[in-house]
Amino acid sequence: MQSRVVASEEGKSKGLSLGSLRLFVVFVALCVVFSLISIYTLKHFGIENVVTTMSSSFQPCVEEHAGLEQWIKPPSNLIHNMTDEELLWRASLVPKIKNYPFQRVPKIAFMFLTKGPLPLAPLWERFLKGHESLFTVYIHPLPSYQAQFPSSSVFYKRQIPSQIAEWGRMSMCDAERRLLANALLDISNEWFILLSESCIPLYKFSLVYHYLMKSKYSYVGAFDDPGPYGRGRYNPNMAPLVNITKWRKGSQWFEVNRKLAVNIVEDTTFYPKFEQYCRPACYVDEHYFPTMLTIQAGSALANRSITWVDWSRGGAHPATFGRSDITKEFFDRVHGGQKCKYNDRNSTLCVLFARKFAPSTLEPLLDMVNSKVLDF
Ligand SMILES: *[C@@H]1O[C@H](CO)[C@@H](O)[C@H](O)[C@H]1NC(C)=O
Ligand SMILES: *[C@@H]1O[C@H](CO)[C@@H](O)[C@H](O)[C@H]1NC(C)=O
Ligand SMILES: *[C@@H]1O[C@H](CO)[C@@H](O)[C@H](O)[C@H]1NC(C)=O
Ligand SMILES: *[C@@H]1O[C@H](CO)[C@@H](O)[C@H](O)[C@H]1NC(C)=O
Repeated sequence: MQSRVVASEEGKSKGLSLGSLRLFVVFVALCVVFSLISIYTLKHFGIENVVTTMSSSFQPCVEEHAGLEQWIKPPSNLIHNMTDEELLWRASLVPKIKNYPFQRVPKIAFMFLTKGPLPLAPLWERFLKGHESLFTVYIHPLPSYQAQFPSSSVFYKRQIPSQIAEWGRMSMCDAERRLLANALLDISNEWFILLSESCIPLYKFSLVYHYLMKSKYSYVGAFDDPGPYGRGRYNPNMAPLVNITKWRKGSQWFEVNRKLAVNIVEDTTFYPKFEQYCRPACYVDEHYFPTMLTIQAGSALANRSITWVDWSRGGAHPATFGRSDITKEFFDRVHGGQKCKYNDRNSTLCVLFARKFAPSTLEPLLDMVNSKVLDF
């Protein structure tokens, strides 16, 4: 019995080595042919062409020493020509082993969804300064806009390939998914913060970093609004995939961890339903992510946003603050006076960012930083 096994294994290994010998001969022959082709090309087309031809033709001959590096290094250039379909697919690739076999320092991805300029950029620069190893920045402006930041800026060359995004339309969710997908390509990004050009940070970086990194929940505003602007926007054609009891509403400005970011970019189930059945007066950017995430990962949501906004003035849009609003009293109000749960415990630290701030607020905001009202 035992000898037969040995014999057959020997036979197998002999067969294998004969086969690999043949393969090797073919391989060498191919290499020679390719080399000849490249020498031919060198003679006939000159140096410039040969660089690409040689590198591709010689590749099979060179033994690959590529290490883990190629899988964990972020793209050196944010400009790529992937279609959204290609990008989302690429971004949805997830390792199945939980522990990283290298020193991974988790980062926060600050994702700016803008029309064009970032008038409050100097404030963000102040906030981020000195923490370069703990964050990344991504900007999705109108496609026609070309940002001009100096090479010393944290915003320098952080623009991603963009498309037009309209409020209340699926193109807005597309832009948000595009930002998430680009940021997911950097494996060190752990938290993904969606911001606009009118957003500001409220606390110093280290506090924001620890608040997020230690959080059990992702911050997506998601509530069940029984009124006409909530359940009233539900289309029964979405059932049974989306039951009205799971229909949620919330602000688009989210803060999600890597797991939920992947949930959002990989979705091909809910997307077509929302695209077809949630059109104005159903504003899809207020419902798609909150509803989808409630169904798929409800227990991972804090169901509140940590981006403060003032609806107290009434109307369809929240208040925009101008120069004269920026006072110590204003920030006393924003910093305090709130109650929430943080990791299931009562907390008064409930918001980390705020909107909406007009460009004219930049100077007084920097004054607030200098006088330590904003303690960056
Ligand atoms: C991107 O560029 C590569 C080569 O530069 C090309 O082969 C590929 O078709 C392009 N993809 C798209 C989607 O344009
Ligand atoms: C929605 O869920 C409830 C139970 O939570 C169920 O009774 C109802 O039939 C469901 N509706 C649809 C349209 O599936
Ligand atoms: C958020 O809401 C979902 C249901 O919609 C619930 O399962 C979850 O526990 C809530 N999160 C917190 C932190 O209470
Ligand atoms: C938490 O706050 C709620 C009210 O918001 C209060 O009823 C409860 O007693 C508080 N719990 C603790 C442990 O302080």
